[in-house]
Amino acid sequence: MLKNKYPTLIKSKEIYMYVMKSSWRMSSHLLVVFTSLFVIFVIIQFIHILVEMQSNPKYKAENKENKTCVTNESRELTKLKTRLSRMQSLLTLVHRITKGGKRQEESCHIETALLLLNQKEGTETIFKDPFEDFTPLGGTDWSFRTYIPCSNISSKFRKNGRRRQIIPSCHNDDVKLEMKDNFNQTFPLFGFPDNCLQKVIDQLCTTHFLVPNILHYIWLGKGSFDFMYFVSIYSGYKNQHPCLIFLYYDTLPSGEWWNVLLLSVPNIIPVKVNPPSKIGGKQIVFVQHKSDILRLQILTKYGGIYLDTDQLLLTSLDKFRNRECTMGMAADGYFGSAVIIAGKNSAFIKKWMDSYSAYKPNLWGENSVIMATKLAKQYPKLIHVEKHYCSFYPHQTYLSDHNYKWSHSYGIHIYKPGREKQLKQLNFSSIRKLNNTLGAAFRFVLFDNKELCS
Ligand SMILES: *[C@@H]1O[C@H](CO)[C@@H](O)[C@H](O)[C@H]1NC(C)=O
Ligand SMILES: *[C@@H]1O[C@H](CO)[C@@H](O)[C@H](O)[C@H]1NC(C)=O
Ligand SMILES: *[C@@H]1O[C@H](CO)[C@@H](O)[C@H](O)[C@H]1NC(C)=O
Ligand SMILES: *[C@@H]1O[C@H](CO)[C@@H](O)[C@H](O)[C@H]1NC(C)=O
Ligand SMILES: *[C@@H]1O[C@H](CO)[C@@H](O)[C@H](O)[C@H]1NC(C)=O
Ligand SMILES: *[C@@H]1O[C@H](CO)[C@@H](O)[C@H](O)[C@H]1NC(C)=O
Repeated sequence: MLKNKYPTLIKSKEIYMYVMKSSWRMSSHLLVVFTSLFVIFVIIQFIHILVEMQSNPKYKAENKENKTCVTNESRELTKLKTRLSRMQSLLTLVHRITKGGKRQEESCHIETALLLLNQKEGTETIFKDPFEDFTPLGGTDWSFRTYIPCSNISSKFRKNGRRRQIIPSCHNDDVKLEMKDNFNQTFPLFGFPDNCLQKVIDQLCTTHFLVPNILHYIWLGKGSFDFMYFVSIYSGYKNQHPCLIFLYYDTLPSGEWWNVLLLSVPNIIPVKVNPPSKIGGKQIVFVQHKSDILRLQILTKYGGIYLDTDQLLLTSLDKFRNRECTMGMAADGYFGSAVIIAGKNSAFIKKWMDSYSAYKPNLWGENSVIMATKLAKQYPKLIHVEKHYCSFYPHQTYLSDHNYKWSHSYGIHIYKPGREKQLKQLNFSSIRKLNNTLGAAFRFVLFDNKELCS
């Protein structure tokens, strides 16, 4: 039922999101099942611990024959306590899920959210900044009842196969961005970190903002470069007007939509990386963890705006570029890590990197979004948090089953699981009449108008 872009691993976050989604829909039936299963799991764990202790001959001997010798018993006890505390933190998580579910905003409709907030006395002003003065996107009619004529954008994006390409170059102190005009122009070979790119960022991409206007995308261990990736990266180019876009890859993408992206985005620079393989003395197995760590290394080194390759950008993130670090809340109550805006050497990212000394290779999220959420509580001055979860990451049920009003959103994170087939079928013509949130957002990015096409 739950497929993943990495077939070997189903992200526990996705299972978790799925459980949350279902439990809301089926009025907590699933939650009851989930909780029961969890309780059974905990009981089995306890039995397992007890059996293990009983079958330990040393433990038995010490207990039965030598009451004074407790050293090894206390070792067992310590172990037991560790496992107990693990169980406890799992229980806390379940508590968070259930409680978090109730705390959720009912909608992504910002006007309603602001109104509700104004009615509550004494609550912290969580949407005050920067939503207080947000410029609504997408016009005023959100009924999607009419069709408008849309142009045929196919040729606009394919440009007869002619590509303009911007290439950073450094000869001693001469640092520049050269423009070349040929699709088949090979890519210059950049790695990470790179001195020339560092100079280009410092000398040519840095303005009065703290965060340089660079977009960073990571493409590790991925399959085909689908339409949604093209639209996502194109939306970053179109709405953020970045100086340069870096795509850190292990295998260079290819295919129709990669070519269309290259034709329409001149300043995308592929950067070949060897993904990190070890951290905190431990082997990194999952590609998601490699990507989690790589994005922190990149932001530490260069600063800029990290975006997942399935993150649509609907408007500029400049509002956040004078803060040292910005992240947003996702619908699950943790931070999302698909958007991270940070200056070079940001103190928050440093704390986060440091936390990897206690890296847990087999857990999802423990070192990434859960850690970031914990650290933000601990060091609130080091990070700005967009608390309305619809700012960057509306709940996934809003994407294909609704037409939610994203007039206030900076971006939309496209959750792929469960929707791969649908997403694969998208192209310039199939999105014209796609009557849901994704269709509207894609049209907004590509046609400059969210309305359905006649
Ligand atoms: C019990 O423990 C004490 C202290 O550790 C030790 O001196 C003694 O030999 C032990 N007796 C047996 C039967 O193991
Ligand atoms: C616990 O028992 C093992 C043998 O099973 C022994 O080698 C070890 O030294 C003991 N540990 C302590 C702390 O006494
Ligand atoms: C599109 O979907 C909305 C509900 O999201 C519905 O109200 C509207 O009538 C639909 N438009 C068309 C043309 O079917
Ligand atoms: C758009 O133009 C292309 C050729 O440039 C054509 O193949 C395609 O059918 C057209 N699509 C629509 C919706 O008219
Ligand atoms: C690029 O090169 C390939 C062969 O290497 C050639 O078939 C294609 O026509 C070239 N494209 C352009 C736009 O020059
Ligand atoms: C676009 O996708 C639809 C199915 O989703 C398909 O029928 C159509 O042929 C595709 N169009 C192009 C130009 O690939």
